[in-house]
Amino acid sequence: MIELASSILSADFAHLADQVRSATEGGAAVIHVDIMDGHFVPNLTIGPPVVKSLRRATDLPLDCHLMIENPDEFIPVFIEAGADWVSVHQEATRHLNRTLHLIRSHGAQAGVVINPATPVDALTEVLDIVDYVLVMSVNPGFGAQKFLPNSLHKMRKLAQIRAERGLNYRIEVDGGIALETVAEVVRAGAEILVAGNAVFGNGDPKTNAQRLLKAATEATLQKV
Ligand code: DX5
Ligand code: ZN
Repeated sequence: MIELASSILSADFAHLADQVRSATEGGAAVIHVDIMDGHFVPNLTIGPPVVKSLRRATDLPLDCHLMIENPDEFIPVFIEAGADWVSVHQEATRHLNRTLHLIRSHGAQAGVVINPATPVDALTEVLDIVDYVLVMSVNPGFGAQKFLPNSLHKMRKLAQIRAERGLNYRIEVDGGIALETVAEVVRAGAEILVAGNAVFGNGDPKTNAQRLLKAATEATLQKV
């Protein structure tokens, strides 16, 4: 099943609840929240208080994408604030196995993220303890960047490994997802589609979300 995870990074933060409501009316099933610390990535965004407010503003799952160093320090705080899914970067996490168990032990779904320069092979030993794998299709830090096609073979590979090993993780993609790129990521095996600029950048988030989901669904039909 294809799900749209609208990324609030490109939303109008002064009207966050309205923007989330509009994306939800357009069919978004997940709210993707980009947490940046100015160290792991060269940008600063939001912390637990905003997650707490979002929790009150929506019933959709909050997908917290941690682009921070020392994620273990903040995982309990974000889950306490209302995160349903928490993902950590392979590149930022020294003891990845421990960190993924930490997320699960606090009752959230655990995801692992790989940057464009990181191979799928780096995840071999943790694929059986994650609920989802997030493939970055831009270098993390900013919205509205250009989609990097080298991410496609990683989605295919993750789908293939999942079938071979009988695993259950879902495949998420993040960065540069728009009407022009959504079909190829769906055909490559992506199931959770993060989109920020394409939903909140210009125009009405509801209409934008609807269009994106329609294009994704059409690509699913072409797949079979
Ligand atoms: C980038 C973030 C993304 C970002 C995607 O570091 O992880 O979630 O919002 O933005 P778009 O969809 O604009 O490429
Ligand atoms: Zn993200």
